[in-house]
Amino acid sequence: MTQQGRKEHWEQVYSTRGQTGVSWYQSEPTRSLELIRSVASDARGRIIDVGGGASVLIDRLLDLGFETVAVLDISGTALETARARLGRRSGAVRWIEADVTEAGDIGTFDIWHDRAVFHFLTEAADRARYVELARRTVPAGGHLIVATFADEGPRRCSDLDVCRYNPGSLASEFGNGFSLVGGAGETHTTPWGFQQAFTYGVFVRR
Ligand SMILES: C[S@@+](CC[C@H](N)C(=O)[O-])C[C@H]1O[C@@H](n2cnc3c(N)ncnc32)[C@H](O)[C@@H]1O
Repeated sequence: MTQQGRKEHWEQVYSTRGQTGVSWYQSEPTRSLELIRSVASDARGRIIDVGGGASVLIDRLLDLGFETVAVLDISGTALETARARLGRRSGAVRWIEADVTEAGDIGTFDIWHDRAVFHFLTEAADRARYVELARRTVPAGGHLIVATFADEGPRRCSDLDVCRYNPGSLASEFGNGFSLVGGAGETHTTPWGFQQAFTYGVFVRR
């Protein structure tokens, strides 16, 4: 899929299904918050939610007192949904509308969180660009938390093919600059009651 095709796809998804009508919707991003808390030395750290879409994770990070927070997503519609929900608090967030495989310098963040974006990168070249951006963005000692469909998870999401991972295969993707230091599984229940197996990898930047 071309970059333009990708953007059109995601804009269409969010403009027709909204925040809660998507399979990945979570009212509470419990596992993400648990893992973020496990690596955050304090709430002053800089954190970015890559492919955050309209997720309420950003609301919870503001609730926790994180001072430097950003959401990157290819869909301006998704970012606008989150902004509108946050109202005045949205001014505390840096909103970055970009394709993660094409983004230039996005600054420095101590924690990079991604739930369900990396697994859409089915081309090795796109994955390499993603990892390279993460390497440029996260300083030594910083952390990367990446959640994808697990080996036994779905083969497709949002009408797109995905790659499925376990902590070991995720570590092979991020081995250049990151060491696997933890992981967790999760069974996500979609708004329609289907169960989806996720795997979370926690990495430290070497
Ligand atoms: C399955 S959703 C997950 C959203 C959010 N992380 C969550 O857990 O609710 C995938 C998100 O990645 C975004 N996305 C897909 N491909 C992307 C890309 N190449 N660059 C940036 N964002 C992308 C989509 O717009 C969408 O918001």
